[in-house]
Amino acid sequence: GTEPTSTTGTSGVHGPTRAAIPARHLRTERWWLYPASTAAGLLAFVVYSTWRAFANADYYHAPYVSPFYSPCLAENCETMRAGPNWELFGGWWGLSPALLILIFPLGFRLTCYYYRKAYYRGFWASPPACAVAEPHKSYSGETRFPLILQNIHRYFFYAALLVAGVLTYDTVLAFRDESYAWGHMGLGSLIFLVNIALIWAYTLSCHSCRHIVGGRLKHFSKHPVRYRMWGWVSRLNARHAVLAWASLISVAAADFYVYLLSVGAFDDPRFF
Ligand code: FES
Repeated sequence: GTEPTSTTGTSGVHGPTRAAIPARHLRTERWWLYPASTAAGLLAFVVYSTWRAFANADYYHAPYVSPFYSPCLAENCETMRAGPNWELFGGWWGLSPALLILIFPLGFRLTCYYYRKAYYRGFWASPPACAVAEPHKSYSGETRFPLILQNIHRYFFYAALLVAGVLTYDTVLAFRDESYAWGHMGLGSLIFLVNIALIWAYTLSCHSCRHIVGGRLKHFSKHPVRYRMWGWVSRLNARHAVLAWASLISVAAADFYVYLLSVGAFDDPRFF
């Protein structure tokens, strides 16, 4: 990796080996639009998901279970007949059951390579943008605590696979009606279908996934299956940032849809 640099002292953009340009940067276009809109988008999601995670209500309307509350691991779930529920936590758990499970998708996204770029720029201005020096005096990258913990991303990837599996199961169950008979399709079923497709595309486009699938091979020619899978993951991986946003929006939309049904805002339009 590259050496940690500093914006003051002997290295970095003000170091003696760099051109002595007095301007802080030479970009003239609205370069701040990208970090500012990123920060605003992430903040909106944080506010929304915090409200919903702590709400502990309105997350279930047969046959739909909000993705924020699945799988439900506590006894106090509204969703007992609806989806994959395992009462690993007994009646003593009085808080929202979402808090037990959201740690996994949250950890996956927080340590994601794309989101790291997004919030380092959006919230910490480190750096604010390409060719714009950061305001901080020193820079240690991800070499020290706490940022060195970003390395656990690959383990969150495995957890994310399990969560995506559970949400896939929920999506299948979204094709039942209110009395759990099969053969239903409502607007909610379609929203769940789009969401799970985006969740899988985001999860499989992960940089760690790409390495797990095709990394550490000396000869691709000796591993034709992994080579082919690596090609697929690489193509998805090129769209990782877009998929990160699309799946973030779709998971919030799926949750919000269940919320609206559950508070009785309208009835789920049914196609059959
Ligand atoms: Fe983004 Fe793994 S790098 S999810």
